[in-house]
Amino acid sequence: MTEKQRTVRVVGPDFLLAGRYRLAYKLGGGGMGAVWLAQDTLLDRKVAVKQVTSTVRLSERAAREVRNRAMREGRIAARLSSLHAISMHDVAIEDGEPWLVMEYMPSRSLAQALNTAETLPPYEVAQIGAQVADALTEAHEAGIVHRDIKPGNILIADRGRTLGIVKISDFGISRAKGDVEESDSSVITGTPAYFAPEVARGQDPTEASDVFSLGATLYTAIEGKPPFDIDQDSIALLHRVAKGQIIPPTRCGDLTEPLLHMLEPDPARRPTMAQARDEIIRHAISGRANIAGLRGVPVTSASGVVPAWAHRSTPVSESRRPSREFGNTIAGLPAVRFSEQTDGQTPAPYAPPPFDPPRKKNPLEVVLDRIDDIVDDRIDVPPEAVLAALIITVGLVIVLIIALL
Ligand SMILES: Nc1ncnc2c1ncn2[C@@H]1O[C@H](COP(=O)(O)OP(=O)(O)O)[C@@H](O)[C@H]1O
Ligand SMILES: [Mg+2]
Repeated sequence: MTEKQRTVRVVGPDFLLAGRYRLAYKLGGGGMGAVWLAQDTLLDRKVAVKQVTSTVRLSERAAREVRNRAMREGRIAARLSSLHAISMHDVAIEDGEPWLVMEYMPSRSLAQALNTAETLPPYEVAQIGAQVADALTEAHEAGIVHRDIKPGNILIADRGRTLGIVKISDFGISRAKGDVEESDSSVITGTPAYFAPEVARGQDPTEASDVFSLGATLYTAIEGKPPFDIDQDSIALLHRVAKGQIIPPTRCGDLTEPLLHMLEPDPARRPTMAQARDEIIRHAISGRANIAGLRGVPVTSASGVVPAWAHRSTPVSESRRPSREFGNTIAGLPAVRFSEQTDGQTPAPYAPPPFDPPRKKNPLEVVLDRIDDIVDDRIDVPPEAVLAALIITVGLVIVLIIALL
């Protein structure tokens, strides 16, 4: 294709991708590209297609990395077949660039749902948590770590046959075991508000870090803000995350115990994803004792209906819109470095400031202290007065003796 023809084909509504997928409109977009609703003209069904960030202004090496990342996302998501993960249909190559073709789910993300209802009840959040944990259990068994679990990457169907069904999406920065990866531990990629402490400190994200991020996501949905609070300054936030001290939850009810377990600062003490899922169900979803009773089932309120916040017809509050996502996915953040002694698996233990060394006392203070000890609580007079009285008495006695002689 010539340069001229290339500039004529502007990506937008009606654009025919790879001769097959006709774009309709943008569904959303984050740090890693834009997601479009499209019609698969061959199979005659709706699909969601993800366009990677434009590589036009990038160096050849950076452009290759962007394309590789998209291919990696496609391959990883294609390995999963969970009812609670968005499925990957195809990778379409357009003008040398990969586009991911996915199952389309008419939905709002949990972040958007939090624009509608500022906080959600623990019972509803528990169902979201159990279903996402179920999909991630399968991912972990397949050797895949998601690495960017947060409200914006959890989709909840908002109309049609699937209304109320929850699915995890966006394997954009995930890794599979055996992937050749650039292991520069001084920079990290993801969303700081949901990072596990060890990730903020530059360690490679693991299955246990996914457990923490899911815990942080569920916590946010109930408490209305992430466990380390919010901060415009992502570096300052990263330092708080690295210390691992969360703000104790106050509204989590039956979900408090499973969430605190998932939010353990030490990754070795966290449950596995399967254990987290089962703990959430056992503590907070009465009547549906195991995951089999939850798979493929819509989220319901305590009264048994799909909650209002999940319906497309419930408006999203504009006033809340900017604050509910609590941060975008950021690439290349500098990891927090503590001193050598404290740079282990667990966060730095609290060290009290050293005491001032005791000051040397002068002889008068020593005498006053001694008097104070002797007098103790017996009389309510300061040691200085006792000392003065003693000196006067001794002086008078001496004067008396001299006078008598
Ligand atoms: N399969 C899908 N069906 C419907 N909407 C989707 C789908 N995938 C993504 N979206 C919408 O696009 C947004 C961004 O998608 P995501 O995969 O998280 O991309 P990014 O890497 O840009 O964060 C989501 O929050 C959601 O609103
Ligand atoms: Mg996303």
